[in-house]
Amino acid sequence: LQSNTLIVVLGASGDLAKKKTFPALFGLYREGFLPNDLHIVGYARTKMDKEEFHKREVSYIKNPANDEEVTKKIEAFQSISTYFAGAYDKDEDFQGLEKHLQEIESQYPTEERNRIFYFALPPSVFLDVAKGLKKNNYSERGVNRIIVEKPFGKDLESSRQMMVTLKKEWQEDETFRIDHYLGKEMVKNMLVLRFANIAFSAAWDKNSISNVQITFKEPFGTEGRGGYFDEFGIIRDIQQNHLLQVLTILTMERPVSFSAEDIRDEKVKVLRAIPPVEQKDVLLGQYVSANGKPGYLDDDTVPKGSVCPTFAALTLWINNPRWEGVPFILKAGKALNEAKVEVRIQYKDVTSGIFRDIARNELVIRIQPSEAVYIKMNVKTPGLVTRAMPSEMDLTYKRRFTDTKIPEAYEALILDAFKGDHSNFVRDDELDAAWKIFTPILHWIEGKKGPSPRPSPYPYGSRGPNELENFITGYGYKRVETGYVWPITNVA
Ligand code: BG6
Repeated sequence: LQSNTLIVVLGASGDLAKKKTFPALFGLYREGFLPNDLHIVGYARTKMDKEEFHKREVSYIKNPANDEEVTKKIEAFQSISTYFAGAYDKDEDFQGLEKHLQEIESQYPTEERNRIFYFALPPSVFLDVAKGLKKNNYSERGVNRIIVEKPFGKDLESSRQMMVTLKKEWQEDETFRIDHYLGKEMVKNMLVLRFANIAFSAAWDKNSISNVQITFKEPFGTEGRGGYFDEFGIIRDIQQNHLLQVLTILTMERPVSFSAEDIRDEKVKVLRAIPPVEQKDVLLGQYVSANGKPGYLDDDTVPKGSVCPTFAALTLWINNPRWEGVPFILKAGKALNEAKVEVRIQYKDVTSGIFRDIARNELVIRIQPSEAVYIKMNVKTPGLVTRAMPSEMDLTYKRRFTDTKIPEAYEALILDAFKGDHSNFVRDDELDAAWKIFTPILHWIEGKKGPSPRPSPYPYGSRGPNELENFITGYGYKRVETGYVWPITNVA
C-alpha cells in the first residue's frame, strides 16, 4: 500500500496502543516507511478531545535529548492523527466512525480506499468489533485488513469457535494474527542461520543434538495485570504462542521458498508432529514474596488461593525422523532473577576415547536483551600443553553491527501488514495445531480432570522452583562450565 490508506487503531486509549502500537507507527513514520498520505484514526470508548488524544498517543515515544528534529516529527505524526470515541457494540457509533473516515478519504486523489484496522482490544469485545467494522466500515474500493492479537481463545474449542465466528466476517488473507515474537530480529534470523549455513544445517538433528532449551525470563511479576493473568497463566501467556513459534522456526524443514505460504506450510507440518504435552513433562511454579517484593497471591487482583502458574517448564517431543527423541524444554517465568530470552542448543558428547570429561558444544541464540549468537566450543589450551578447554565464539550484535538499529518487533510486523506479507503472522491451521498441543495440559492445570496440581513456590527474584535443575538434567542437559559471563555490562 503506497497511498490512499488509513489505519484505525481500536482500543486507542489502552495500554497496548500507547506502549506498542503508536510508538511502532511513529518509528515507521519517522523512517519514511509508511504510505505517504497515511492517516491514523484512534477509536475507543473514552471520551477525549484531539489534544488529549495527541498527548496520549506520543506518551511512550522517546525523545530524551529533546532533539528538535524528533520533536518536529512527533508534531507531524500528531497532525496526521485524529480520534473518534464510540462503543464497541453499537452500529451507530461505527457509522459515526465511517463518516469520520470518509471525510479524511474525500481528500484522496483517486477512488481507491484502503483501510487497516488494528485491534488493540480486550478479548471480550473482539468479536463485536470484528462484526461492527465489517458491517459499517468495510471499504468496497480497496484493501481491508485486520491486525489482531492474542488471546485467540483459551483452548482448542474456544479458539475454534472464535475462528469460525471471525471467518464469517473476515477472510484469512485479510487477517493478520500477531505473535510479536515473530517480529523479533533474532527470531527472523533463525531462518538465515539455519538455511544459509551448511555448518549448522548439517548437524541440525537428533544425531548431533542432545537437547534444546527455549527460555523466557522476566524479572517482574504480574503487578497490576494479575486479574487478567490469572485467567490465562504463564503457559497461555508465553509458551503456547511465543515459545512455540520459536520452536517451530527452529525445527521446521526447509521451506520451498521464503513465501508466506511455503513457510507456514512447513511450520504446520512440524507442529502436527508434536503430540500433546504430558503431565510427567511439566514443572509448575508460582512466585512468593521475597526481599520486600510481593508474592503472586499478594496482588489484590488475583483470586485468593489461586493455583495459577507464573512459571512453567515443559518438554515437547517431535515425532519425525529429524527430531525423534530430542527433548525441547520450554521454560517461562515471571518474577525471576533476570530478563532474558534465548534458545540453547546442546550437542551430544563427542565419542569417548581420546578425550575425557570434555565439555559439550552449545549454540546459543540470544533473542533479548542484547541480541547475540555464540557457540561454546573446545579448543586446545594455548601453550605447551596438550589439553582441551572450553571456550566460546561470540557474535554480539551491538559490537559487530555498530551502525544498525534493530527495529522493534511491532515495527517489523506492522510494516509487513502494510505490505500484505503474511510470513510472520500466524495462520489459522497453525493456531489450531498449537492449541492441540497445549489444551490437555491446560485443562489438567485448571482442574477439569481432577484436582489442580499445586505449583511449587519460588521466591520473587530467584531462578525458579528448586526442582528446575533436576527437571532439566533429567532430559540429558549437562551444564557446561566455561566461566563464561555474558558481557551485557561491558557492551556499549
Ligand atoms: C506478552 C505477554 O505477550 O509478551 C506479557 O502477554 C509479556 O506477559 C510480553 O511480558 C513479553 O514481550 P517482550 O517483547 O517484552 O519479550
